[in-house]
Amino acid sequence: MNSVSTQQLAPKQEGIATAANLLQDGALVAFPTETVYGLGADATNGRAVAAIFAAKDRPSFNPLIVHVPDVEHAATLVELPETARDLAQAFWPGPLTLVLPVKPGAVNDLVTAGLPTLAIRIPAHPLAQKLLRAANRPIAAPSANPSGAISPTTAAHVMAGLNGKIAAVLDGGPCKVGLESTIIGFDPGPTLLRPGGLPQEAVEAALGHPLAAYQSDIPNAPGQLASHYAPDARVQLNVRETDGTLLGFGAMESTLNLSAAGDLTEAAANLFAYLRELDQKTDIIHIAPIPNIGLGRAINDRLRRAAAPR
Ligand code: TXA
Ligand code: MG
Repeated sequence: MNSVSTQQLAPKQEGIATAANLLQDGALVAFPTETVYGLGADATNGRAVAAIFAAKDRPSFNPLIVHVPDVEHAATLVELPETARDLAQAFWPGPLTLVLPVKPGAVNDLVTAGLPTLAIRIPAHPLAQKLLRAANRPIAAPSANPSGAISPTTAAHVMAGLNGKIAAVLDGGPCKVGLESTIIGFDPGPTLLRPGGLPQEAVEAALGHPLAAYQSDIPNAPGQLASHYAPDARVQLNVRETDGTLLGFGAMESTLNLSAAGDLTEAAANLFAYLRELDQKTDIIHIAPIPNIGLGRAINDRLRRAAAPR
């Protein structure tokens, strides 16, 4: 693909307007959400959506999440059955993606990879909200990183992976949540498709019952790609002590500590930036055990993939 010079846009009126114009012209713009930075394109423009796959060097056309500013916009694109409405009411805007029946012609077929469903999300980040309203069209956005690499939680992370391949990045500072959104499907009942920045327990409390566990033979489905979120270094999990490089959690001696206080929210926000930092320093990253509750489930999911054989 042609090399372009990537503009770094300040989080002001002018930067937002420039980013919105670029999106309307079919260009790729990375923007902050509270989860991770997304690589945005006009979801109704097939060429723009195809450019996402080229910029990320994605091996296959897996389906993308579409971002809109509010439920009214969402309802123009997807069917919203009652359970989905309840979850939307409870958690949107926020780190939650719902997979719902897509309305005919709502977005380009490349976005859904030909599936009868669309993954849709309303981000809470104020800059994302402003950009989506200014662009005034649904924006498809996977995480703004080369395929398989660690997701970006700062504009500098985006530039490190995609500089010269995208038109612009809107700089909103570090992402507060730091993990991708939790994905829920409804086929047939509410099902956890990907653990993420909204704890499973919170979704289950809102529903009043446990979520179904996810099983799939579909290669494009979330969770099927084993190696993902991967640093160059090898990753070894559940290590409490080492002479080498240790990413700690809770009170312990370590090279970097996700949260010395043992706070999973803090650990999630630090995870991707710290993996990147340690990746610069060493060939093997040892990682302390993380409790498998709340956000710890999503942290462990990402760490298992970072450690998966390639
Ligand atoms: O927090 C996030 O979700 C970020 C920000 C930018 O919004 N986005 C993100 O997108 O993580 P991405 O492309 O890295 O992950 C999207 C996931 C994929 O695993 C994909 O398979 C799944 O969503 N997905 C998309 N559409 C789907 C559909 N119709 N049915 C099932 N899974 C779907
Ligand atoms: Mg991703």
